[in-house]
Amino acid sequence: MSTSSTDKEGYPFNRDAFASTRLNLQHQLFICSTGYHLHSKVAVPQNALVADIGCGTGIWSLEVAKQLPVGSKLEAYDLSLAQTPPTQWWPSNVTFSQMDIFADIPQHLQGRYDVVNIRLFMCVVQSGDPMPLLRNLMKLLKPGGYLQWQEYDPSTDKVVCADPNTSAPKLDILRAAIRGPAGNQAHILKDHWVPNLHTRFSEAGGALMAHEKVWTPNEYVTIKQDVTFLAVREWIANMRVKEPGSEGATKLEKMVADVEEECWKLQRGTFADSEIVTWVVRKN
Ligand SMILES: C[S@@+](CC[C@H](N)C(=O)[O-])C[C@H]1O[C@@H](n2cnc3c(N)ncnc32)[C@H](O)[C@@H]1O
Repeated sequence: MSTSSTDKEGYPFNRDAFASTRLNLQHQLFICSTGYHLHSKVAVPQNALVADIGCGTGIWSLEVAKQLPVGSKLEAYDLSLAQTPPTQWWPSNVTFSQMDIFADIPQHLQGRYDVVNIRLFMCVVQSGDPMPLLRNLMKLLKPGGYLQWQEYDPSTDKVVCADPNTSAPKLDILRAAIRGPAGNQAHILKDHWVPNLHTRFSEAGGALMAHEKVWTPNEYVTIKQDVTFLAVREWIANMRVKEPGSEGATKLEKMVADVEEECWKLQRGTFADSEIVTWVVRKN
């Protein structure tokens, strides 16, 4: 299978070495920023069964599997296993399997898990409606089981300058282009559900146990800058696969080059930040 997303699939990123490096770095940023893999409100029993949905490179699963109580198993899923390790190198308590989380959940997986984890699906929910996904995640859980879901909250997005006497006009232009109604970035506009998701869990048969938000700590800002620049480059590459000769990609590439130059001129003293939001939900 190709390491890049196809036209049929809306996922706007890739699955090559560059993409895996970016996901693994982003994972480190999440762990450093929040301080945990699993929120303290997630109660993990002995012999727990844990699912990681849309596992990407599998790095969260591989690390969490070492921290689980004795007898526990981690079953990780993704639409594509292009970024996960080969079977021979799986730890004994981890498996990776193909699954489309938007399709009907097979009978044998319904009510199977004590804990379900999902992270960074903002760009995967193409319809702008998170409820079909949420209902499927809840189906995977046992009654009393826990869902942990983490995203960046785009409604909190802001430009930060290390020196308050400086400004970042190029970054402002790029943000306006991404947040505005420009054609090729349309999927970004479907993220309006993130700030309100905490009000929707009861509709899907869950009770909100934690709703936590953190900004990027100062000491990890340079990692956030790197992740952002890598993500935009990957996005541009993906646009070109889907639409060779894309004018939107060329415009975006120029804007990003200007922003990088501006950032470096200010000794890396500018970036766009948004809060990481964590929801913990207990199935009724
Ligand atoms: C932004 S990545 C996040 C990966 C991982 N959760 C992390 O935080 O490192 C989104 C992941 O969702 C996967 N994905 C996209 N569509 C999916 C679907 N319909 N079912 C399951 N996974 C999907 C992608 O292949 C990708 O690995």
